[in-house]
Amino acid sequence: MLSHLTTNFTRFFRENHHFEHLRDEVLPGLIARAKAGGRVRIWSAACSDGQEPYSIALTVLSQLPNAADYDFKILATDIDPKILAAARAGIYDENSLETMSPAMRKQWFRDVDVAGRRKVQIDDKVKRLITFNELNLMAQWPFKGNFDVIFCRNVVIYFDEPTQMKIWSRFASLLPEAGHLYIGHSERVSGDAKNLFDNIGITTYRYIGRNGGKRA
Ligand SMILES: C[S@@+](CC[C@H](N)C(=O)[O-])C[C@H]1O[C@@H](n2cnc3c(N)ncnc32)[C@H](O)[C@@H]1O
Repeated sequence: MLSHLTTNFTRFFRENHHFEHLRDEVLPGLIARAKAGGRVRIWSAACSDGQEPYSIALTVLSQLPNAADYDFKILATDIDPKILAAARAGIYDENSLETMSPAMRKQWFRDVDVAGRRKVQIDDKVKRLITFNELNLMAQWPFKGNFDVIFCRNVVIYFDEPTQMKIWSRFASLLPEAGHLYIGHSERVSGDAKNLFDNIGITTYRYIGRNGGKRA
C-alpha cells in the first residue's frame, strides 16, 4: 500500500555531492579498515531500482577496484518487491547513464537486447558488492551489526514528522561514532534527533556517538 504513495524516481549519482563526500572524506578510512581485515557496511535504505546502491558501489570500486576481496558490503533495501527485482537485474535505459562519465559506462555496463529494445546492464562485479532485500522502514529492522554509512534519501519526506524523527534515531542506534548519514535534498534531521548528529554539509550528517557532547 505504502509503496503506491511514493514515487520510485531515482538516478545514478543523484545529488552527486554525497558520492563526492563519500569518496573523498569517508572511503579513505573505511578502505584502510577493510585492508586491515576489518568489516565495512553501507546501507542504501530506500534503493528504488538500484541506481543509488550501484552509484555507491561504483564509487567504492573507483577507490578500491578489488573491493569484493574484502569484507566490504552494501545492503540495499526497499519496501517494493517489484522495484527490487528491477534492481537485482540491473538493466537500464541507455539515457540513465547520462550522469556518469563515458569511461565509467564503458567499464561497467554492457549492451543488452530486451524484447528488441537496446538497454544496458551493469557488470556482475558491481552487483556482487550488493545484497538486495525487502524492508519497510516503518517496521522492525532485522539487523544485528552496525553500518558505517547510511543513505536514506528522498523517502522519509513522505512520512509524518514524528515518524521521521523516530527513523533518524533508529539510524543513530545503528551507526558508530562518526558514522555518516546522507538524506534527500528536501529532508532535514529534525526535532530531538538533531542532538544526535552534526550537520557537516548539504544533507550530510555525522553521528555524534553515544557519549557525544550534544547528547549529554
Ligand atoms: C523517490 S525513491 C528514492 C530512491 C533513492 N533513495 C534516491 O534518492 O534516488 C523512494 C523509494 O522509497 C521506497 N519506499 C517508500 N516507502 C518505503 C518504506 N516505508 N520503507 C522502505 N522503502 C520505502 C519506494 O518504494 C521508492 O523506491
